[in-house]
Amino acid sequence: MNKAKFITFEGVDGAGKSTHLAWFVEVLRKSGKKVLVTREPGGTPMGECLREILLNQSMHAEAEALLMFAARLEHIEQVIKPALQLGTWVVSDRFSDASFAYQGGGRGVKVAKLEQLECWVHENFQPDLTLLFDIPVEVARQRLSKNITLDRFEQEEGTFFEKVRQAYLERFKNHSDRFVLIDASQTPEKVKENLEKTVLCHPIFKER
Ligand code: TYD
Repeated sequence: MNKAKFITFEGVDGAGKSTHLAWFVEVLRKSGKKVLVTREPGGTPMGECLREILLNQSMHAEAEALLMFAARLEHIEQVIKPALQLGTWVVSDRFSDASFAYQGGGRGVKVAKLEQLECWVHENFQPDLTLLFDIPVEVARQRLSKNITLDRFEQEEGTFFEKVRQAYLERFKNHSDRFVLIDASQTPEKVKENLEKTVLCHPIFKER
């Protein structure tokens, strides 16, 4: 049996990653894998309480970064690592790359500070694969405008999301070994086709 893997989905709000995540997990399960689906911020009782605060309560940008990583530590230790040890694949809707994109790019928290937190919380532990759903900000904003309620992040201006997108692309450039970039501006069918062609043929699905 393959060693269980940790896969993360990333992208600006409105890129459509959640829709594709559901389909992707279905494909993994049909191939006989046990899969745990989780999300950040959240994934544990403590993390879900912090999510409620983070998505609704305004705060200092660095406090926001610290809370994201506090929730992440709990998530890794209580959920992600135990599942992987039991041979269960873990698919997370966002992980640390989101902190570099949103708190780093969007809010301007220094990358060096985020790197310190990353090192503190999960030194030597990274996703085996990260799918980055990339989309021009105007297209993502149009998709989001159909939502009735928007959280604190989704209510930000286009310029905020432009910075988030650029920070994600920077992460992709610097960690290209574990990233796959997906053009999310295409129709959902085309994105799915692309996922089938590029992602499901990735070496991590063949490793023993
Ligand atoms: P999101 O995946 O967009 O949830 P939903 O699809 O239910 O709206 O995640 C919620 C928000 O949290 C999103 O706008 C990005 C933000 N976020 C950060 O700012 N930093 C982080 O480290 C993480 C994990 C999320």
